[in-house]
Amino acid sequence: MKRKGMCILIGLLAFSFVIGTGVYYSIAGDREVFIEVPLGLPELIAPEDNPMTLAKIELGKMLYFDPRLSISGQLSCATCHDPRLGYSNASSFAVGENHAVGGMNSPTVLNSAYSKTMFWDGREANLEGQAGGPMTASVEMAGIPDEIVQNLNKILEYRELSMMAFGEYLSFTNIRKAIATFERTILAGNSPFDRYYYGKEKGAISDAAMRGKKIFDDPNKGNCKKCHTYTKTDGYFSDNQFHNVGIGYDTKKKGEKDPAGRYGVTKKPADKGRFKTPTLRNVTQTGPYFHDGRTYSLKEAAIICLNGIPNKNLDPEYKVKRKLTDKELDYLVEFMKALEGELPLFALPAIPGLLSKN
Ligand code: HEC
Ligand code: HEC
Repeated sequence: MKRKGMCILIGLLAFSFVIGTGVYYSIAGDREVFIEVPLGLPELIAPEDNPMTLAKIELGKMLYFDPRLSISGQLSCATCHDPRLGYSNASSFAVGENHAVGGMNSPTVLNSAYSKTMFWDGREANLEGQAGGPMTASVEMAGIPDEIVQNLNKILEYRELSMMAFGEYLSFTNIRKAIATFERTILAGNSPFDRYYYGKEKGAISDAAMRGKKIFDDPNKGNCKKCHTYTKTDGYFSDNQFHNVGIGYDTKKKGEKDPAGRYGVTKKPADKGRFKTPTLRNVTQTGPYFHDGRTYSLKEAAIICLNGIPNKNLDPEYKVKRKLTDKELDYLVEFMKALEGELPLFALPAIPGLLSKN
């Protein structure tokens, strides 16, 4: 699925349906499906070895909401990436099995199809790799792969769906592939900004948001676009790079090490304290913000991100000190609000063997 606008041959069995605003599937059995992305989003590219099929999307959706992926049978992916909470969890840190608290804020899964690496430090390459992490992480779902696979394969619906999707029963790899495929359909675009900028719809955003856009773009004002990027054709509002904004340098206790960030993966000293630029799409819904979930306030986040928090490895973009008036900060916030896109709409799946539709 490389080309935007690519068509697929639709056979006799084919039918199409709408999963949510702007996301369409045309399907032919378990053949590759074409997903038309909402306005403003980049083209969707699935890995060569995990093409999008309807069977996989359906299977992945059930697995995403299935608490049997966790050791206690109580936590699903949706516990920490809840569709009602911007696909995040509205708390600073995630609480996993045995009330274990990890030290990281749950990022949103919305539009994570466009994230070139996974996690705040980018330690996983893609959604397939990522999905294995939480199932087994002790602070998250604490599961054992073989047990999860065995348990789920006891259920007829899962066996059937997996046969359709993969031509075999569930394996840990198949579970990850199916969840990743479902996650690639969790897209939100067609925001007021998208309609204004890409759809050329006059009046789609307020005057204040338009002023905010100028400040966001201007290297001498906000300079936000430098890292929260968008182009003339589309935007993810993240450059998919790692930057040291200084988060965590100010809150660490005496004697505690500097926040590792990307350094934890590369061991390059220059990467100390660098974290992945989060997308700003639907940022109104994904708080609290930053990797330590320190604030719910977009204005406060903008103030922090304008000049960063001083430390010896602060991003070079912050060499210039920038100053904005209170009004200008409010405009920036109005612009970020205009990035709130339409959420995908889908019926919550009946989890096989747990919930029935009636
Ligand atoms: C207990 C809470 C919890 C559960 C359960 C959980 N996650 Fe996460 N998720 C997190 C946290 C916290 C992070 C960030 C961790 C980090 O960066 O070190 C994260 C990161 C991610 C990311 C990376 C997003 C990005 O932008 O980098 C994806 C995708 C994701 N989780 C999907 C899933 C899936 C799929 C499941 C189910 C198999 C799942 N999560 C279960 C808390 C959770
Ligand atoms: C040098 C690159 C860079 C620039 C410039 C920049 N940001 Fe950021 N921004 C980041 C990174 C990296 C993070 C995450 C930092 C962390 O949590 O450690 C972030 C986080 C944020 C967040 C929190 C989002 C979330 O989901 O946690 C907001 C809001 C934000 N930036 C807005 C802005 C605004 C507004 C501007 C302009 C005034 C701006 N940023 C400029 C790199 C940048």
